[in-house]
Amino acid sequence: PTNPQMEREQSVLRREGCRAKGGAPGFKVAILGAAGGIGQPLAMLMKMNPLVSVLHLYDVVNSPGVTADISHMDTGAVVRGFLGQQQLESALTGMDLVVIPAGVPRKPGMTRDDLFNINAGIVKTLCEGIAKCCPNAIVNLISNPVNSTVPIAAEVFKKAGTYDPKKLLGVTMLDVVRANTFVAEVLGLDPREVDVPVVGGHAGVTILPLLSQVKPPCSFTPEETEYLTKRIQDGGTEVVQAKAGTGSATLSMAYAAVKFADRCLRGLRGDAGIVECAFVASQVTELPFFASKVKLGRGGAEEVHQLGPLNEYERAGLEKAKKELEASIQKGVSFIRK
Ligand code: NAI
Repeated sequence: PTNPQMEREQSVLRREGCRAKGGAPGFKVAILGAAGGIGQPLAMLMKMNPLVSVLHLYDVVNSPGVTADISHMDTGAVVRGFLGQQQLESALTGMDLVVIPAGVPRKPGMTRDDLFNINAGIVKTLCEGIAKCCPNAIVNLISNPVNSTVPIAAEVFKKAGTYDPKKLLGVTMLDVVRANTFVAEVLGLDPREVDVPVVGGHAGVTILPLLSQVKPPCSFTPEETEYLTKRIQDGGTEVVQAKAGTGSATLSMAYAAVKFADRCLRGLRGDAGIVECAFVASQVTELPFFASKVKLGRGGAEEVHQLGPLNEYERAGLEKAKKELEASIQKGVSFIRK
């Protein structure tokens, strides 16, 4: 063919054919909002993941350019781009995992909740597409405010009759990534050796690091606990301020999103012992959604872990977190039920 677009598409099909014959393992992943600050590095890192065989990049702007660019990387996944609402259904059909970083980010002085009015509608539309075209896919929701967008997605799926609470996960991995980094700094350790559970939600005081459960076992002075808790809770704002009006965390978020997506794919593949924190439907507290450690398996978040023993500082933090979370969850639910 003389048409480069056709040429690319045919080479994609040839490679998919080879893949099908060889029975090579691989999952189909869509990124919605793939041309954004998070979307672009996320697409790049996903293209490098050997568990991904097909990568669909969807956005309402600029996805053809990002797709052409990423498709030149000499890794296994075949890449296809989709532009605009009329291509949403093609982007979603057949997907095993859908990662959603679509929506506006914060500017200095804004809370995540200030994004609600714009992002709620975007998440609603995208989830309606998922319900229609890939109702069994695992959904990794990044768009803020996560504490409200996850309940919105759940309501959309309920309305469509496709809701599987195990398959809807709000991505809080960046809070864990930050916590591991900041705690490692204080302890003088390599962050790769540190594991900090972060529970609750993904905004301000709802971000609750459980410093009493850090691995390897260690202890902190009250000052260290206060410093670390605040820094983890305000990590997003630290980046928003440093970027001075040009956006929020994108590169560390893309890293965290791919780390989390990879764990979801390993779970889907049937690997044992995959446990990560995520914001999910939960009975761990009296709230309908809560972030805690979950076991990832073929069915998604197959088990939601209890919080384990909390110290007094964490129990007080939990009460504050629950109060704000309850309102954010309710706001999301009302947006669809209104
Ligand atoms: P961005 O503005 O750079 O990119 C967003 C992308 O979404 C743009 O390419 C835009 O065209 C696209 N988009 C807008 N409406 C869309 C629609 N209806 N369908 C598909 N795509 C659409 O923003 P950035 O920095 O990438 O952030 C994206 C979201 O992620 C924000 O809501 C931000 O608050 C959130 N976020 C979440 C974090 C978390 O830990 N869960 C951390 C950092 C950001």
